[in-house]
Amino acid sequence: MKTQTEKKIRELKKQKNAIILAHYYTPSEIQEVADYVGDSFYLAKIAKNSDADMIIFCGVSFMGESAKILNPKKKVLMPDISADCPMARMVKQGKIKEMRAKYEDLAVVCYINSTAELKCQSDVCVTSSNAVKIVKNLPNKNIFFIPDQNLGKFVAEKVPEKNIILNDGYCPIHVRISTEEVLENKKLHPNALVLTHPECEERILNLSDFIGSTAEIIDYAKQSKNSEFIICTEDGVKYQLERDNPNKTFHFTQTRPCCVDMKLNTLEKLLKVLETEENEIKINEEIINKAILPLDKMLELAK
Ligand code: 13P
Ligand code: SF4
Repeated sequence: MKTQTEKKIRELKKQKNAIILAHYYTPSEIQEVADYVGDSFYLAKIAKNSDADMIIFCGVSFMGESAKILNPKKKVLMPDISADCPMARMVKQGKIKEMRAKYEDLAVVCYINSTAELKCQSDVCVTSSNAVKIVKNLPNKNIFFIPDQNLGKFVAEKVPEKNIILNDGYCPIHVRISTEEVLENKKLHPNALVLTHPECEERILNLSDFIGSTAEIIDYAKQSKNSEFIICTEDGVKYQLERDNPNKTFHFTQTRPCCVDMKLNTLEKLLKVLETEENEIKINEEIINKAILPLDKMLELAK
């Protein structure tokens, strides 16, 4: 059944000159069939430069939206249009305006995990793999970092010369990881290195040997001479980690962080969307024209 579905997906995407992009948190069978698998930054770059007629984005809505904004002439579809990131809208109404009024020299730095409307009010977007570099290189002293407080804190630590004003958004999946379970894992696996996504809370980052985006975690594990790791991020990365490193062991925390929205992407829905071309991302032109500015600025500054 699965093989038949996969076969049809491969045939149809060829026929329709479509490419399938998938985030590392999507189910393994989606990652297997995708043309490009990566973190948010990598996938945004692929979407921007693609000359396929159609992009099928297996991820959550801010990713599909960013692909559409970066390449507005393309048809961008999602297997499940309801796959959303709860953090994407965690900025209180009026907060950006209030901050702009308070600080003359303010840059609003917007994590890509945000709605298109929030991007429209921002100066530059960042992802977890380029946030430090971009913030460091901004001429502004005062930075309002939205929506994620944890990535914001991580950046503030790395760029102490800036005044980083934090917002109160967070990822409900990553903040679930507790200090106790990381310590318990360290006790059980004393030789393991702790690799952590910066969306985790500061107390987890303080217990970590390496902090980075999903792609950076995967890359670190591959390059490392160590053979055992404790992974503090969403469990979708397990597929790639084990595929790249058959002789290494990866332990996950007991709460087993799982992003239910990412898991809404299934092979059946992917096939259906290829057949019907439904679930197209539509964004009005005015929003596209505004939201593309911080996204393009990110691509420029991250070079
Ligand atoms: P990456 O920037 O590592 O792709 O992370 C995106 C995300 O949603 C993490 O929760
Ligand atoms: Fe959003 Fe967290 Fe899911 Fe990433 S893991 S998409 S930040 S809810």
